Amino acid sequence: MDRILIKGGNTLSGSVRINGAKNSALKLMAAALLTDEPLILTNMPDLADSRFMAHLLNHLGVETERRDDRAMVLHGKTLATPFAPYDLVRKMRATFNVLGPLIARHGHARVSLPGGCAIGARPVDLHLKALQAMGAQIELEEGYAVAKAPKGLHGALINFPFISVGATEHAMLAAVLADGDTVLENAAREPEITDLADCLNAMGASVSGAGGATITIRGVGSLHGHTHRVVPDRIEAGTYALAVAAAGGDVRIENCAPEHLGALWDRMRAIGVTVEPQDAQCVRIVQNNGRCAAVDMETQAYPGFPTDLQAQFMAVMCCADGASIIRETIFENRFMHAPELVRLGADIMVHGREAVVRGVPVLHGAPVMATDLRASVSLVIAGLIAQGNTEVSRIYHLDRGFEGLEQKLSALGADIKRVSG
Ligand code: UD1
Repeated sequence: MDRILIKGGNTLSGSVRINGAKNSALKLMAAALLTDEPLILTNMPDLADSRFMAHLLNHLGVETERRDDRAMVLHGKTLATPFAPYDLVRKMRATFNVLGPLIARHGHARVSLPGGCAIGARPVDLHLKALQAMGAQIELEEGYAVAKAPKGLHGALINFPFISVGATEHAMLAAVLADGDTVLENAAREPEITDLADCLNAMGASVSGAGGATITIRGVGSLHGHTHRVVPDRIEAGTYALAVAAAGGDVRIENCAPEHLGALWDRMRAIGVTVEPQDAQCVRIVQNNGRCAAVDMETQAYPGFPTDLQAQFMAVMCCADGASIIRETIFENRFMHAPELVRLGADIMVHGREAVVRGVPVLHGAPVMATDLRASVSLVIAGLIAQGNTEVSRIYHLDRGFEGLEQKLSALGADIKRVSG
């Protein structure tokens, strides 16, 4: 199995180019089920997760072709049986978002309940309730959601009890072809939601209010093909910004959307890092003041601090000057990186949803193990500042969400390589 070896101590400099957002790409790919014309997604990341989603879509009858220009063509001209087996769903939660489009297109579907990162229970009750409100009859049978809507889906008022990115996207994907108006209240406001709405609208849907708490979808009879550029990955961009905060240096992060990371910039400036947006697609991060200051941080739904950057922020706080309280409000079990960071010499105490990180002067390299997607990259960041060699194993987690991480970091001056076996 592949591992990543890092020799810590180098500062980072130069520029790094950010890919399209994994989390957006996966839901945009599901939109290909809604039309019999080709959907072309440009700025597509090439990741284990997007390949996995493509396999599932192929099984469902969508032809996919990855082009050399970082585009993917998805064509669901005639769909196959609407059955998504466990093996094609279990690795990744986003695959569950095919259920709504399949019901919309076929009137019935059988989709395995999902797996994904082990960061809490992560049920899909909100997804199912939204589809049921639109007229789907759903039974849970032996690990599968078995759904039918003999009269088709209809518009509904759906008030989410709390914010869910996946359920908001799933409801949008189902509602665009429903009969009548659907109103989503307490909807997620992430840039990936707006990206999905923009793509669906360009395919002929009528979605308004995305990016706000209330989204209104007027159902239409059919959607057509379109070419859509995937929004930049704010989590990848934020990860490189935090790597610079940890290791020190001066890096331009290009092809990103700095406006999507306001909460991160706020915390980074508070710890003493210089954040200089250059234009709408580029931000310069400079850290040459020695140790960062310790500050508290709490994850929140967008526009708050993203839970997907919490582990990376904790890695930076490990060597900060002072103590930091990090509070995770989105997922109940998302501190699995803490014991691994402690193996590198960090001082972290976890109490339920709070972690107290007391900055230490140095970390020391050690073998560590990735436990989930974002946790694994926090170990890489910690390895960049640790004295000596850090070896990160189980990096298949990393490959789910970060394309070319070791090449990009090594181009910035880090001593990092991947080894097999
Ligand atoms: C998406 C992102 C993930 C990110 C998360 C929060 C993708 C592929 N993944 O995950 O990277 O960390 O948003 O920004 O886009 N919940 C329920 N019932 C439901 C749905 C969710 O209880 O039906 C809970 C979850 O367990 C979690 C919280 O709601 O505690 C938020 O989850 P949600 O926003 O749905 O996250 P995902 O869409 O799974």
